[in-house]
This record gives sequence, C-alpha cells and structure tokens, in this order.
Amino acid sequence: MKNILLIGATGQIGSELTMRLREEYPSGQVVAGYISGAEPKGELLESGPSAMVDITNAGQIASAVKKYNIDTIYNLAALLSAVAEKRPQLAWNVGVGGLYNVLEVARENNCAVFTPSSIGSFGPNTPRIKTPQDTVQRPTTMYGVTKVTGELLSDYYASRFGVDTRSVRFPGLISYVAPPGGGTTDYAVDIYYAACKGEKFFCPLKPGTFMDMMYMPDALRAAIEIMEADPSKLVHRNSFNITAMSFDPEMIYAKIKEFIPDFQMDYKLDPLRQSIADSWPDSLDDTCAREEWGWKPRFDLDFMTKDMLAHLSVKLKKETKEKVSSVCTT
Ligand code: SER
Repeated sequence: MKNILLIGATGQIGSELTMRLREEYPSGQVVAGYISGAEPKGELLESGPSAMVDITNAGQIASAVKKYNIDTIYNLAALLSAVAEKRPQLAWNVGVGGLYNVLEVARENNCAVFTPSSIGSFGPNTPRIKTPQDTVQRPTTMYGVTKVTGELLSDYYASRFGVDTRSVRFPGLISYVAPPGGGTTDYAVDIYYAACKGEKFFCPLKPGTFMDMMYMPDALRAAIEIMEADPSKLVHRNSFNITAMSFDPEMIYAKIKEFIPDFQMDYKLDPLRQSIADSWPDSLDDTCAREEWGWKPRFDLDFMTKDMLAHLSVKLKKETKEKVSSVCTT
C-alpha cells in the first residue's frame, strides 16, 4: 500500500483509520474521502489530502483514484444496523450499489479493496456460540443482507477479475474518538460516556445479550494487517471472523463498576435493537484469521475498560473546559 483512498473517512472507523494509515505510510498519499455535510476537520483535514467522494457516484471515486494514483481503497461507507432497518433502500444503495462502484473502479485501475463485513452478516440459523468461519449466513436485517452480498461480490471480483479484495467481519467497535451512531452494539460505547459523566445508564439490551466486541486500536490494526498479509497464505478473503471479547450488558457494567463504584445502570429496552442482537451470534471463532494471517487481539474487557475510561475522562474534561471558556468569551 502506498496511495490509499478512504471512502467514509470521517465516520467512526474512518476518522481513526485515516490518521493511523498516515502514520503507517508517511511517504504515500492517504486521501480522506468524505460526503457533503461530513467534511473532515482539524487534524484529519490538516494532516493530508481529502476529496469529496460519494460512494454512490462512480465518477467521483474514479477521479480521486486517478488524481492520487491510488492503489488501495478502504471502503468504509455504510449505514449501521439499526439505521439500516429504518432506511433499507438507502442502506442497499450505499452498501451494495456503492461497493459495486468501488469494485468497478478498482478493476479498471488495479486497486486492492478492503470492505468491512460484520457479525451482522450472520442470522438466527447460524450456530450462536463460537460461530465458525464458514457457516450459515442468512441474516434477517438489511444491514446483514448488504454485508453478505458484499462478501460474495468481493470474492467474485477476486476470482473473476483478480481484484485484490480482502476483509474482516468486525464485531461491535468501541472507541473514545468518534461515536458510532445507529448500530446495535453502540450501547457498549454509550455506557462508558455515561459512566465518565457520572450519569445513570439506561441499557437498550437485556441482560444475557452476548455479542462480540473489539477496542478500536485492535480493529485498526486488523484492517491494516489483513491488507498487508501474504496473499499466498490466504485461503479465505471475504471475510474473516475476528473477535477480541464477548460480553453481555451485566459483564461490562460490572467491569466499569470496578473502576467507578458509584456507577448505576438500569434497563430501558429498545425492541428493534434487541431483535437485531438476538439474531446475531454470541461469540465468533476467529481461528482462520489467526492461522492465515496471524490475527491476535491485544485488548480484553479489563484492559479496554481501563484505557477507555482514562482517555474518555480526559476528553470529556477538555470538552467541558472548552464549553465553559466559550461561554465566558461570548
Ligand atoms: N456495530 C455494528 C452494528 O451494531 C455491527 O457490526 O450495527
């Protein structure tokens, strides 16, 4: 990888991955692709090039690829699961129509492509515990339908046209930098914000709802390592199961209480998110990723919680100070 285009660079994964890739490949161009209304700001804007790239506009993708001589595309544009249920047509246009545009531009310009899949690519008929790499994928959400279609389409472009497509099935991603917005696993981010702000947390999922999760630094490393992996060792391509931990609301609550004993949680169920979570696996088996390209997570629930609370409290203090001082100066 030398010259990289990220589509969806200002989103939850993109805003951190763009910065990581700029550190990782200082001699290349790492272009932050964004859509109108989600322009890059601050460090993201100042540390490298950016371009308006709407994934539903093949011409915009092609012109950024040509202008910056792009060899790798990170396709991070997607609507998360709960939002996709509310806007299924848009979710299809972005997730599948958009991916088709990316793959066609990649085919014509010889680019490698990373498109994340998800635990959402599985459904209620999938084995729930230690879900194998190759198994039943009959999701009941539009998010899952777009992810399975994306996996198949990406594999098709690899075998039919030789496009170097690779990906991972991300679990819920937890970060203190950019909020997720519209996913089923978002509660595992929101709970840390509530704990740091000293607020009571109302959990939208019931106790016993287990899902795989991962701390963002591990997810970023996975996205880079899979694209750097030796292709001769890859039996699979789209997409690899990866995981770092599996927990339910009670477990994360108990872990946070070890650090913030006064923290309180209650339940206020969201039926949509609950039904989506109920259709997903409790835990994935990521043996193939470990064997084929050396995947190994570094953060477990304990290590992640320590790091997340430390960073988030600094961030929230800073934001509060900025708010107070801007109130003082106006
Ligand atoms: N985090 C995603 C969601 O909850 C799943 O990959 O929609």
